[in-house]
Amino acid sequence: MSDLAGKVVVITGGNSGIGKEAAVEIARQGAHVVIAARNPTKAAAALTEIETRADARGRVETIPIDLASFASVREFAGAFTAKHERLDVLLNNAGLVLRKRDVTVDGHETQFQVNHLSHFLLTNLLHDALANGAPARVINVSSFAHQTARKGLDFDDLDWERRRYASFGVYSATKLMNILFTRELARRSDPDVLTANVLHPGFVGSNFAREGDFGLLGTVVMPIIRPFAISSEKGALTSIYLASSPDVEGITGQYFVKGKAVKPAAQALDDEAAARLWEISEKLTVV
Ligand SMILES: NC(=O)c1ccc[n+]([C@@H]2O[C@H](COP(=O)([O-])OP(=O)(O)OC[C@H]3O[C@@H](n4cnc5c(N)ncnc54)[C@H](OP(=O)(O)O)[C@@H]3O)[C@@H](O)[C@H]2O)c1
Repeated sequence: MSDLAGKVVVITGGNSGIGKEAAVEIARQGAHVVIAARNPTKAAAALTEIETRADARGRVETIPIDLASFASVREFAGAFTAKHERLDVLLNNAGLVLRKRDVTVDGHETQFQVNHLSHFLLTNLLHDALANGAPARVINVSSFAHQTARKGLDFDDLDWERRRYASFGVYSATKLMNILFTRELARRSDPDVLTANVLHPGFVGSNFAREGDFGLLGTVVMPIIRPFAISSEKGALTSIYLASSPDVEGITGQYFVKGKAVKPAAQALDDEAAARLWEISEKLTVV
């Protein structure tokens, strides 16, 4: 077990599934854990559960965030930095898939904003706090689904306005963005200050896509394959490893599966696309 005593760790979506299991173990290892969650009732229940299971009374807090709103992301960052000078680990874990195209208050396709843009904004807003926690770690939760975005990103239609909306297609594109963002963040950062890594957690029986959000795939295929999913506890192992292990000190820009750095799909290694995504994300979020 690693020792995270005195470290401050933010986990988006830490109220459910993989994020909650990561929160339990990270709190058990001594860290102060901030659960960034959109639903106050779920957040309060998760806080009690995490504190109890991790025996970490007083070391878990919740700060509201709705990743479908840039204003909410800014409020979160303001509330966090008012309380904490440093941030040691930022675990950008929250994510969703939607059956139908939906638009956020900021006018973006919701998966694009929640899964990528808001995490991009959050990471940038917390940059100074991360620098105070140097060597800090940013961990992004992607998915093997990035592999199916074979053609890469359509930079002329990141909000999926001009194409037929395919829920898994959009999800896969946003999970590709998670890897491209990680690689560009790593390229732009001094590893003595900040490392950035990304992971696929496995096929996990969490609350993810429980409501058939993958469309036909969700309604027909998911009930058949769900029994083969691993537990959220197991799904959290790579997140915990990247947050806590001394083995990954100084390692940056890597994609991890089952605790090992592996090569992602070719489209995730496109440095030009990574730089372009960064520039566009900066404009869209007005960092
Ligand atoms: N499950 C899998 O098989 C699998 C495979 C590969 C990758 N992943 C990735 O793993 C990550 C965690 O997913 P999970 O499996 O643990 O699913 P989960 O149990 O559904 O957890 C997802 C979390 O994201 C939060 N979230 C969604 N929209 C949000 C918003 N607008 N603002 C703030 N939080 C929001 C959810 O909040 P609520 O509880 O309020 O909905 C929840 O806490 C996701 O990024 C997902 O893409 C999962």
